[in-house]
Amino acid sequence: MTKNLAVFVSGRGSNLQAIINKIESGYISCKLSTVVSDKTDCGAFEIARKNNITHFSVSAQSKEGFLTYQELLTKFSELSIDLIVLAGFLKKIPDELIELYQHRIMNIHPALLPSFGGKGMYGHYVHEAVFNKSCKVSGATVHFVDSIYDNGFIIAQRAVDISDVSSPDEIAERVLKVEHELLPYVIKLYFENKVLIKDNR
Ligand code: GRF
Repeated sequence: MTKNLAVFVSGRGSNLQAIINKIESGYISCKLSTVVSDKTDCGAFEIARKNNITHFSVSAQSKEGFLTYQELLTKFSELSIDLIVLAGFLKKIPDELIELYQHRIMNIHPALLPSFGGKGMYGHYVHEAVFNKSCKVSGATVHFVDSIYDNGFIIAQRAVDISDVSSPDEIAERVLKVEHELLPYVIKLYFENKVLIKDNR
């Protein structure tokens, strides 16, 4: 039976596009059933529209044009969502959703966790911190989401050499390339039942 994927986004959506490409090529076997954002408009929503993918805006407070998380959960059960992937989603996921989808929500972080993670560590802030520390290696991490920012079990990591960079932007560029490979790879493994929790790790 086809597995259903939901992707959460806040920004330009290059990871979303990488996932779409890998589903279209047959590398990942699932349906991208919905794209969810905390915004009403962003690059990622443009991509969703172009690809005729159902998309919703969500907010923790009830406001016009946004679903509440409770309403989103109803949509998710109608769509039989199996896996939620956070691809540049900047808001905290409510505990209720985390509990309901335990080990079925994953996030991509643009550094090698557990370093350079946590509240406020997102986007360019991560790459600036890595650059200012004079790190020689950075990379991408895909991990399960729990109730603490960037804290859940690590599923996969890929490192990149940044020993010769001269700006945080250069780090971002190298890491993003890796993200576009790593995230689809982990989603593929997940739907092949190859991402396992054993012995509490
Ligand atoms: C990525 O670097 C992701 O790891 C981070 O935010 C960025 C999102 O980029 N958390 P995009 O929207 O997928 O292009």
